[in-house]
Amino acid sequence: MRTRPLKVALLGCGVVGSEVARIMTTHADDLAARIGAPVELAGVAVRRPSKVREGIDPALVTTDATALVKRGDIDVVVEVIGGIEPARTLITTAFEYGASVVSANKALLAQDGAALHAAAEEHGEDLYYEAAVAGAIPLIRPLRESLAGDKINRVMGIVNGTTNFILDKMDSTGAGYQEALDEATALGYAEADPTADVEGFDAAAKAAILAGIAFHTRVRLDDVYREGMTEVTAADFASAKEMGCTIKLLAICERAADGGSVTARVHPAMIPLTHPLASVRGAYNAVFVESDAAGQLMFYGPGAGGAPTASAVLGDLVAVCRNRLSGATGPGESAYAALPVSPMGDVVTRYHISLDVADKPGVLAQVATVFAEHGVSIDTVRQQGKDGEASLVVVTHRASDASLSGTVEALRKLDTVRGVASIMRVEGE
Ligand SMILES: NC(=O)c1ccc[n+]([C@@H]2O[C@H](COP(=O)([O-])OP(=O)(O)OC[C@H]3O[C@@H](n4cnc5c(N)ncnc54)[C@H](OP(=O)(O)O)[C@@H]3O)[C@@H](O)[C@H]2O)c1
Repeated sequence: MRTRPLKVALLGCGVVGSEVARIMTTHADDLAARIGAPVELAGVAVRRPSKVREGIDPALVTTDATALVKRGDIDVVVEVIGGIEPARTLITTAFEYGASVVSANKALLAQDGAALHAAAEEHGEDLYYEAAVAGAIPLIRPLRESLAGDKINRVMGIVNGTTNFILDKMDSTGAGYQEALDEATALGYAEADPTADVEGFDAAAKAAILAGIAFHTRVRLDDVYREGMTEVTAADFASAKEMGCTIKLLAICERAADGGSVTARVHPAMIPLTHPLASVRGAYNAVFVESDAAGQLMFYGPGAGGAPTASAVLGDLVAVCRNRLSGATGPGESAYAALPVSPMGDVVTRYHISLDVADKPGVLAQVATVFAEHGVSIDTVRQQGKDGEASLVVVTHRASDASLSGTVEALRKLDTVRGVASIMRVEGE
């Protein structure tokens, strides 16, 4: 074993960074044996230097992350600050100064992954980011290495624990969205400002990363269709139950049936209770992968939290250190397929539409005609009358999102349709 240690600069020592430092210290001997050289924590960059940080030598702490990265003797920079800047500049500076990078930063990778990969390649360094998607769950490496010989057709997952906790609460207790959100906040599962989670921004960043890797194609955050879950109601869950379904916020990356394009989207959807993703409870994450040769695979586990996320960071750190010792680098960006990313209108799926209509003869026929005119075939219809008004629940066969949007637009113009109470996609059948 080499005795000269590999030097690691830790940028950020918060929820994830503090656990990375702890594991590096407590597992130092095992890490050295697995890597073939000791790993030394050479510096820790933070914003508030006076904060007491258990287990961290205060002499290592600095507020000057740039100087730490530019030291010239750093082998690996672990970026767990988060956000776009200064993380982006620190990562590119690390490459320029001869260090490889391990990051957990989904926002940055979804926005600037291509440029960061190019910078890593230019300088002959590694960029690893297993922790950026679904916390502890090994997903990036299985997609980019274990399945590199297969053809992935679909990646569908629950990649945000906060929203899964909220939806699971609504499902199991009949609570409304706000009540379930309040409980998630009280228990620490939701942040004071939950926008990034409940509006699907966090999941969209992860979908962009997953789609890019799965389809060997550059997928930017802007390419991902995004709908949050704040409009999901207790009534939607009641409807889902009647269909033998539950509701999840899903990130779905798909190759088109003809293989010529891909789509990436995040939205709430009904899935059958028999689907493996339906049984993912609480704040857990799971990703369901479908490929030509392997068939169906499911990856499941804690998608966040300090120690679970640090586990993924440490796995990357070991891999990058091993590469460094052997004078090699791991796989870089693979975007050779360069498939076009189609808009949401091209997505084909099933829909559950709930309409408030006048309770009089002929309404059903009128509504059915509108669906037929837009080429959307109806699977089932359920009607419930109450005091001259009625609710009509229509479940369609597979149709394009553009056809469904046209149908809904036309339905809204009918005198007999008082309103469109909800539109929910039905997945996983
Ligand atoms: N938390 C999770 O469960 C989780 C899961 C998956 C991925 N991630 C990702 O991991 C990353 C870190 O998340 P986190 O939850 O650990 O965040 P966090 O608890 O807010 O920690 C951020 C750390 O960065 C430091 N920092 C902030 N601005 C800085 C600057 N300009 N220079 C130097 N240090 C700076 C902070 O210093 P102070 O300590 O002085 O404030 C803090 O130590 C993010 O990209 C996040 O998306 C987190």
